[in-house]
Amino acid sequence: MVLLLRTISELRSHLKGYRQANQGKIGLVPTMGALHQGHLSLITKAIAENSLVVVSIFVNPLQFAPTEDLANYPRQLEQDLQLCESMGVDLVFAPTPEEMNSRGDTNALNNKTTVIPPQSMTQVLCGKYRPDHFTGVASIVTQLFNIIQPDKAYFGQKDAQQLAIIRRLVQDLNIPVAIVPGSIIREASGLALSSRNQYLTKLEKKEAAKIYESLQQVKLAFTEGEINATALIDLVKQKLANSEEVKIQYIELVDPVSLQAITQIKQTGLLAIAVYVGSTRLIDNIVLQKRQPIIAIDGPAGAGKSTVTRSLAHQLGLLYLDTGAMYRAVTWLVQSSGIAINDHQAIANLLQDLDLKLTSPSSIDLPTVVEIDGQDVTTAIRTLEVTANVSAIAAISAVREKLVEMQQQWGEQGGLIAEGRDIGTNVFPHAELKIFLTATASERARRRLQDLQAQGINDIDLQQLEQDIQRRDEQDSNRAISPLKKADDAIELITDNLSINQVIDKIAQLYRQLVASY
Ligand code: PAJ
Repeated sequence: MVLLLRTISELRSHLKGYRQANQGKIGLVPTMGALHQGHLSLITKAIAENSLVVVSIFVNPLQFAPTEDLANYPRQLEQDLQLCESMGVDLVFAPTPEEMNSRGDTNALNNKTTVIPPQSMTQVLCGKYRPDHFTGVASIVTQLFNIIQPDKAYFGQKDAQQLAIIRRLVQDLNIPVAIVPGSIIREASGLALSSRNQYLTKLEKKEAAKIYESLQQVKLAFTEGEINATALIDLVKQKLANSEEVKIQYIELVDPVSLQAITQIKQTGLLAIAVYVGSTRLIDNIVLQKRQPIIAIDGPAGAGKSTVTRSLAHQLGLLYLDTGAMYRAVTWLVQSSGIAINDHQAIANLLQDLDLKLTSPSSIDLPTVVEIDGQDVTTAIRTLEVTANVSAIAAISAVREKLVEMQQQWGEQGGLIAEGRDIGTNVFPHAELKIFLTATASERARRRLQDLQAQGINDIDLQQLEQDIQRRDEQDSNRAISPLKKADDAIELITDNLSINQVIDKIAQLYRQLVASY
């Protein structure tokens, strides 16, 4: 049962009793009520990470300006209590303004000791338009921390400026609480959930969805390499310019920790926006973070790509995107599901909810660790039966499409290295480092000859080998699926006079230069 407490003394004595009897952690989710899924996601997180959870519900007069909606702010304690009850919240603290030593009006700030966050953080973004707002927030949050003394407190990324200011507050005033952020929860349309969405008409709600659409455009442009503040901000302006209902208050690109404006995203940027839709003020934001780089290595067969890639992955701590292992895994799955290899429809259906995971092995001599549906299939995918069927499976377009899609999803995080024929052109056209690893046909023939001789095969014609390699190159360059192609922005490495270690060192050096320039 959720317990509703309205006074500080009741809450304190309850928490004291709890602390005497229990070791567990106490989590706090501060809110102003009118709870929605955004709040509930913070509550879910708090319940998972603590043994006792307090949700505070207090429409804080200190943070409302005289012109703002303090009197009209939605208050629905009964419904909020039921929601907290159904979530398994232990305590709801819902004090009156008097109990919090606040006058219940918008002049409350004049009658109370307050906590003033750094001006550099309050005179930007929303602070420009809501001068005392963050003093009001910092004061009430400090008061809640003092009353409850939680181990952890939960704040949504939706209010990115509030989150940054509170992080700074606990740091500057040495308040012993861990601040845990929660990601932005949105409606199906993309509109960020907010208690103020209740004020929107149907049409306004539809138009408000454009805010998120514009942020998505920004994200796309950023992934494609746009890092300039003006260019990114202009994209949002353009998108919102054609909406009658949406009036921009500000769009700024700032550092997410200091909140200072930046002209370029070097590592991370926070693009924050406030708009009026009709008479309702809405805010939203997106954090743009440069991912760890991707290295794409393409080149003809026999240029040493897989050895080089495997070794670099190990040396640089990157995930080796072992596409070969992925096709093997699918082949194994098809076989063990009893589906015929030519039943492309059944295979496509099977792949719909494919749960495939690759992890780097503990040692360079071991193969990539592969899991399907949580089961380790690293060894199972390397049987002769799988080997015999893997190229037939890889030729199915539905399989290729699904696996490339997965690879690209993983690529969004960055921090991986992949090799093939079209990694830099097709799979990861935005890879930060593209290498076209090649050697002349005669050199590759010579290396192949050496390999074969080492295996005790001696009756080989070097010229014939060279011709075979040339033919293979030609086929690879002209094949319908994934033709071999050098990306325009790839660095070509001709390895004729280089040892494998020299090649690895060269690429490692290029990668380190790139990371250093971040
Ligand atoms: P309120 O607006 O009620 O929000 C309470 C918490 O829920 C905040 O941390 C906010 O960031 C988070 N939240 C709101 N909408 C969200 C969404 N769509 N997705 C994820 N989280 C969301 O913020 C306040 O109250 C007050 O300023 C408060 C901190 C309680 C101080 O009075």
